Amino acid sequence: MDLLVKNIKGLAGTYSGAPKKKAGKELNDLPVLEDSFLRVKGGKIDSFGPMSSLSGEDDSTKTIDAFGRFVIPTYVDSHTHLIFSHWREGEFRDRIQGLSYEEIAKKGGGILNSAKRLQQTSEEELFESALQRLHSIIRMGTGAVEIKSGYGLTVEDEIKMLRVAKRIKEVSPIPVKSTFLGAHAFPKEVSREEYMRSILDEMIPRIAEEGLADYCDVFCDRGFFTKEETRKILVKGWKSGLKPKIHANELDFSGGIQVGVEQNAISVDHLECVGSEEIDVLLNSDTIPTLLPSTAFFLGLEYPPARKMIDSGLPVALASDYNPGSSPSGNMNFVVSLACVQMKMLPEEAINASTVNAAYALEMEKSMGSFFPGSDASFILTQPMGSISEIPYSFGENKIESVYINGKKFE
Ligand code: NIG
Ligand code: FE
Repeated sequence: MDLLVKNIKGLAGTYSGAPKKKAGKELNDLPVLEDSFLRVKGGKIDSFGPMSSLSGEDDSTKTIDAFGRFVIPTYVDSHTHLIFSHWREGEFRDRIQGLSYEEIAKKGGGILNSAKRLQQTSEEELFESALQRLHSIIRMGTGAVEIKSGYGLTVEDEIKMLRVAKRIKEVSPIPVKSTFLGAHAFPKEVSREEYMRSILDEMIPRIAEEGLADYCDVFCDRGFFTKEETRKILVKGWKSGLKPKIHANELDFSGGIQVGVEQNAISVDHLECVGSEEIDVLLNSDTIPTLLPSTAFFLGLEYPPARKMIDSGLPVALASDYNPGSSPSGNMNFVVSLACVQMKMLPEEAINASTVNAAYALEMEKSMGSFFPGSDASFILTQPMGSISEIPYSFGENKIESVYINGKKFE
């Protein structure tokens, strides 16, 4: 699809080639080309520059006049659970009335509740509802996404979820990566040892054989999987070609960050409980700390210490954690607002964390998260605005006029 976007008030995230991931002070570097144009050829970025250098406009190319508007790369949402059967708004009411997330989980609610419902739902129904959610997050500016299993909790149901993810990949207009999260919770029907055995000896080999996942995840936290169990699963995953990306340190100082780094995880996600020791471990690694502030918002947890992490020189990525229990929203604009309001990240830092760095968290940095010749032409066209800070500033408002995926307007 060939396209010319002209008179752009500010084109953010332009580079000559794929940028490095942004750590520490660099996280605030967001190049913005003022009064500029963007040219798309064959769904990829062809060129960009100041309007004064634009030449060769012709009638055969579709042209958009972006006067007063900004163009930014689409968000990369590197952590979601968007395949599920039912919402859990009943638990929301329980929490309002005083029960904690962990107390609800202990009563058989939480992840086990979602698993019970998912086991009774057909692959077709799961596919249809997940596809609708996918379309709704694209409309809110997401241009690449990761999707986890983890509400199956039996061999057949985990495979069912990952088959749905595979079908979503096949029809999705945006790139999708999938993650095996059989180690999301221990089901009540079998012993802990038996469930570990089934993950290690049945689920991982079958998933690898059928090529159903890119990554392997474990919920390494208090009341869920221990460090030792996590290590066993990640080692087995690596041997079967599944790279680790894990849930760590949401509910406690679980040692999850340490085991994730030790196992060369692509990312460790959540990180509400992070101190100097965890920061030091991350500083000596390539693992990307990924923060999910809408979960802290929804569960009323302490927010991850993003400022301290960035000021110590770390890169951070942002993701939505879209799921029915702890973040029933996949709106990355709200995630970016929370990062600014609650975690004291500057708008430029939050945008970089949800584009460039998030692309690294999905190993998509060569095509997504920034603009350079040859990158995917997936971008957000904002409404007219004074500066890019209006995106996080206007929390809960829709500041997106349209979303383009590979140069084509998403309707
Ligand atoms: O990332 N923390 C673990 N898993 C999900 C929540 C899943 C659920 O409550 O359904 C999360 O927050
Ligand atoms: Fe999650």
